[in-house]
Amino acid sequence: MKVMLFGTQPYDQLSFERIRKSYGFEMVYHRSHLNAKNVPLAQGADTVCVFVNDTVDAETIRGLSELGVRLIALRCAGFNNVDLQAAARCGIPVVRVPAYSPHAVAEYAVAMILSLNRKIHRAYWRTRDGNFSLHGLLGFDLYGKTAGIVGTGKIARPLIHILKGFGMQVVAYDIYPDNRYALAEGIEYVTLDELYQRADIISLHCPLTDRNRHMIDDAAIGRMKPGVILINTGRGQLIDTAALIEGLKEKQIGAAGLDVYEEEAAYFYEDTSDRIMDDDMLARLLSFNNVIVTSHQAFFTREALDNIAQVTMQNIHDFFELNKLTNKVCIETEKATV
Ligand code: NAI
Repeated sequence: MKVMLFGTQPYDQLSFERIRKSYGFEMVYHRSHLNAKNVPLAQGADTVCVFVNDTVDAETIRGLSELGVRLIALRCAGFNNVDLQAAARCGIPVVRVPAYSPHAVAEYAVAMILSLNRKIHRAYWRTRDGNFSLHGLLGFDLYGKTAGIVGTGKIARPLIHILKGFGMQVVAYDIYPDNRYALAEGIEYVTLDELYQRADIISLHCPLTDRNRHMIDDAAIGRMKPGVILINTGRGQLIDTAALIEGLKEKQIGAAGLDVYEEEAAYFYEDTSDRIMDDDMLARLLSFNNVIVTSHQAFFTREALDNIAQVTMQNIHDFFELNKLTNKVCIETEKATV
């Protein structure tokens, strides 16, 4: 049984190798992302294992099918990068890791909120340069302010719990509201419009689908409170980056914490420091002192990496040894998880 992993980093290899022996699979680690051009690399694989920035579109899946690949194992929760209909047509099942550490992502969103609000990222550089002035570092109390959370699934819930601990009010929007949860946690489901109007901080925790691509556009930003802090640890394409840049320039957006970016595949997870940045939008985002861009790292804790390796290997084992599709992703999953 040969498992071929694409888009891997040394830390992926370490976490998978730690448990490989208990499964006995042959593992091949590719640094490059899977896409239609490098499908031939998957020659001989029974399973291809991919992450968030691999492109598993119809052409790629056709190629995998011709090579005899029998399973696509996502080592992540989101599956917006996989053409599920093409996979179904080719008879290749898709499995995923539905939750590796919701706490990791929730805690990271809080880290971004605190850094941006209290300007920790700026103070860090300032004091190292002997500048102990507080000019421009003024923040606000989170206590008593309102957080607007879009999507109230596995990640949003620990986040909401932490924010409530700060004494914040929480309003939320979800296409499948869970009223029992809202009552128990003491939060209020509102329309997206009302969330935009009331929230001092907005954090996105819904999956990316065809319906919500660029949900944060000019019109949405125009309805938000001036000075709002916007956090995106969901998916880059939830935000229309051009609209965000305009919102930042007009000071409608007070600060943005972006762990994901529309065109992240070309940069994220790579050291590109010896190249000229050819993405003007990314370069502009990085020029704002009230924007923090990080490289899709919200998940990146020891616990999450261990869970990713464990659940991925078990998914593969279940399919080949027990003929069982554990954590299967299908078109209906979108309706259930989305
Ligand atoms: P989940 O499936 O537990 O919860 C998603 C929630 O969003 C559900 O309650 C669903 O009903 C709701 N939803 C779906 N479409 C919506 C829409 N258009 N508007 C409002 N709500 C909507 O997912 P989970 O585990 O909480 O993850 C959320 C997203 O976070 C993932 O889909 C993934 O894109 C992203 N993620 C990012 C990571 C990172 O490292 N930055 C790591 C893991 C996940």
